[in-house]
Amino acid sequence: MRDATLLYSGKAKTIYRSEEPGLLIMEFRDDITAFDGGKKGTMKGKGTYNCCVSTYFFRMLESQGIPTHFMRVLDDHTLAVRALSMIPLEIIVRNIAAGSLVRNLPFREGQVLNPPVIVIDLKDDSRHDPMLNDDLILALDIVSAAELQTIKQTALRINEVLKKFLSQKGITLVDFKLEFGKSDEQIMVGDEISMDSMRLWDTHTGTSLDKDVYRFDKGDVMITYRTVAMQITGGECEEVK
Ligand code: C5P
Repeated sequence: MRDATLLYSGKAKTIYRSEEPGLLIMEFRDDITAFDGGKKGTMKGKGTYNCCVSTYFFRMLESQGIPTHFMRVLDDHTLAVRALSMIPLEIIVRNIAAGSLVRNLPFREGQVLNPPVIVIDLKDDSRHDPMLNDDLILALDIVSAAELQTIKQTALRINEVLKKFLSQKGITLVDFKLEFGKSDEQIMVGDEISMDSMRLWDTHTGTSLDKDVYRFDKGDVMITYRTVAMQITGGECEEVK
């Protein structure tokens, strides 16, 4: 079903047109970047593990009635997804203070955020994804007030689903980023939900199980991604040698 037309190539994924109307092909590459592209690398198998975990979570969300762009798996690093009109916002749900929250605001690393905090950034690399607030989002006419409410409510529901599931696996969901898009005016989860977009800590040891391992040279990135992907999916991911 692949038509070779490349539509978009991001830092870690490539989107192709498909022959089927309304569908796109999303390829998870082995590229890994951090710090606004300031650190770059390639890790064999990384695309496969992120694709596998994203698929697992998309199916989980769909089973809970939360619409996503996931349609079907094409191969171990490629999905068929619904073509969405993407909303240029990064919706970050935070259960525990870490990362930029601790760098930019007087939070203590590890501070529990109860209720969870939603941070919304503008998806705009040229401006380094600045943080927005509701007034700015409405003034910029990015979404309507009703759509913004739907996005936030959905993000919090997803947080509850993922947090509970991961805690049963001994993993603490510190924070994660979502992107949404619209199809026929319906708001759906797009992009990916993977080790690249989540901050995960081993509940017992506090060890990082996500892209922070790459960002801060905390250990072997591929061993971490493979181990956590297998832990999350119960061994469903294809092993990449
Ligand atoms: O860097 P920061 O602490 O703001 O990141 C919060 C969460 O959002 C992390 O899980 C990070 O991996 C994710 N994120 C992302 N893409 C971005 C910015 C943050 O996936 N562009």
